[in-house]
Amino acid sequence: MAKTLSWGILGCGGIARTFARGVAHSRTGRLAAVGSRAREKADKFADEFCPDARRHGSYEALLADAGVEAVYVATPHPMHAEWAVKAAEAGKHVLCEKPIGINHAEAMAIVEAALARDVFLMEAFMYRCSPQTRKLVDLLKAGAVGEVRVIRASFGFHAGCNPEGRLLAGALGGGGILDVGCYCTSMARLAAGAAAGKDFAEPLEVKGVGRLGATGVDEWAAAVLRFPGDIIACISTGVQVQQDNAVQVFGSEGSILVPWPWTPAREGGQTKIILQKKGRPQAEEILIETQEWLYALEADTAADNIERRQALPPAMTWDDTLGNMKTLDRWRESFGFQYESEKLDARWPTVTRRPLAVRKPGNMRYGRITGVEKEVSRLVMGVDNQHALPHASVMFDDWLERGGNAFDTAWIYGGGRCEQVLGRWVENRGVRKDVVILGKGAHTPFCTPKDLTAQLLESLGRLRTDYVDIYMMHRDNPEVPAGEFVDVLAGHLLAGRMRAFGGSNWSLARVEAANDYARRKGLPAFAAVSNNFSLAEMIDPVWPGCIASSDPASRAWLAKTRMPLMAWSSQARGFFTERGDPADKSDREMVRCWHSAGNFRRRERAIEMARRRGVLPIQVALAYVLCQPFPTFALVGPRTLAETRTSLAALDIELAPEDLAWLNLER
Ligand SMILES: NC(=O)c1ccc[n+]([C@@H]2O[C@H](COP(=O)([O-])OP(=O)(O)OC[C@H]3O[C@@H](n4cnc5c(N)ncnc54)[C@H](OP(=O)(O)O)[C@@H]3O)[C@@H](O)[C@H]2O)c1
Repeated sequence: MAKTLSWGILGCGGIARTFARGVAHSRTGRLAAVGSRAREKADKFADEFCPDARRHGSYEALLADAGVEAVYVATPHPMHAEWAVKAAEAGKHVLCEKPIGINHAEAMAIVEAALARDVFLMEAFMYRCSPQTRKLVDLLKAGAVGEVRVIRASFGFHAGCNPEGRLLAGALGGGGILDVGCYCTSMARLAAGAAAGKDFAEPLEVKGVGRLGATGVDEWAAAVLRFPGDIIACISTGVQVQQDNAVQVFGSEGSILVPWPWTPAREGGQTKIILQKKGRPQAEEILIETQEWLYALEADTAADNIERRQALPPAMTWDDTLGNMKTLDRWRESFGFQYESEKLDARWPTVTRRPLAVRKPGNMRYGRITGVEKEVSRLVMGVDNQHALPHASVMFDDWLERGGNAFDTAWIYGGGRCEQVLGRWVENRGVRKDVVILGKGAHTPFCTPKDLTAQLLESLGRLRTDYVDIYMMHRDNPEVPAGEFVDVLAGHLLAGRMRAFGGSNWSLARVEAANDYARRKGLPAFAAVSNNFSLAEMIDPVWPGCIASSDPASRAWLAKTRMPLMAWSSQARGFFTERGDPADKSDREMVRCWHSAGNFRRRERAIEMARRRGVLPIQVALAYVLCQPFPTFALVGPRTLAETRTSLAALDIELAPEDLAWLNLER
């Protein structure tokens, strides 16, 4: 339903002017206030575009303006995330200029903030609000060109040569890909999706090239994207080259040309799509008439969808935005283009630029491990898929703010990259005293006391610390007497390089042997064990040398000894999501390691219990690990903030002993 909406503009630059004119022509919008870093600039802007609007000399003041319902974020891209999140925190609906952030990590943070604060959020791709775009989608969905095979999209212009301006300066997110290449990716994803009857599609492959200029940003760039159905998109962009700025879609039965795809009918009027059917001498001109201004349509799209918190396609939905940002990351990655702020040695800041603080109230729970002076969060963040500092920082910041303090890493992960990223983040945030680092080393074939020492020292260097809280041997080597490992581990512990140690993928018999030895010699003993443990039984090791402790005998041992178990693959690597569907044989590892009649029955029970309790099966599976009658810590490996959010909800699920038994087919 249409609603009137009082807008506040944040940042009084070029596009803010265009938007201000748009709001003035909109059906629903009213400009209530403008905010600039300088009061005089806000005054000048308001005098010109909206004399009645309140004027604020800071963005904070704009966000504190109770008369502002929705904020339009119109700063350069690197400031979008900070102000979009702060606007959401202030309870304002958010229309954020494109690209919504400089990478997918920032986009995730913004989307989560909108979700948490229950506000509207849309990325301001105004062309998606135009009737021309809807017409294009309708034509493709109706098969106007037959099967879509190739898409071509370009958006590039020559912006002159001001190295300090936002189009070329690295610190301002300069370069073509983020500025206007984002239109091309969003259009390619839209068209490929429409061809498949969907709102958008994600590319299977992204292969890009680009020219990095003197300021270190892409002056021009191109990419080829392959979508499901082998639809290929060729896209190009630039801020130092004038392009044709058109879109073409080629299919089995003809082609479509959109001569003005990006800013059609800016002030209302006529625009067109040209449809050329195979075998017809004459192309058909499809005229699209609108009285409405393009940026007015954008403001109205926000107002019309405020209640559902996101726009309807083809305007940008949250998932569409996240997918587009991921595609832009992949485009840049494919030719090694990172902004300085994203590099491993950079001080990537928190999204809000505030120091981290645990959010209250939280639901994290904690346990103890002998030797570790801090409480350890019962959920442990696995870092083995965190290779990039921005993404890892956003994930880890959120983790810490949700009360998670434990991180699981290993010498072997990412060839050392994961330890480096974690170490850099810990140093950037100054949180070494607050976090619990579980490090691992001496993985086969380096599973010897000598290699253990070498790897530990290397890990400490990469982690930029002089100790890990818990050190685990990543594998066991039964050819070496357990006591020899205890000697070397105890030596490092006594030298202060670790607070506690244990074994990962160690049989419980070997753990017992190690601890018997330690007891006899008066040495520190294994304080924890990290084996696989989950509701699903691992029927074949995920990786060679892996050991599970989910069986009844292991559970009885753990209950008797009270040795903490740090359970890896605690959610059975997605078996309790739709990916574990028995009919789906596409994931070979899933089939090999988890497909068994017993596991399918456990999965069915988890699904049934989840339905009864109004939660997700994967949350039931995680609760199964957390609710055992012995100390457990569950290692989880969320790849997105949404996955972290859903994992944490498992902490609120209580499972009684009879629930555990029922889930595990023991009742
Ligand atoms: N959808 C579209 O059609 C369209 C078109 C152009 C641009 N855009 C997007 O809109 C955003 C802004 O682009 P623009 O062309 O309007 O840029 P611009 O003219 O340079 O204006 C950006 C404004 O952001 C504020 N700002 C905050 N921190 C800044 C900093 N460190 N350096 C410079 N400015 C800073 C300034 O406002 P105050 O001084 O008032 O605080 C400045 O006037 C970009 O993300 C761009 O991608 C969208």
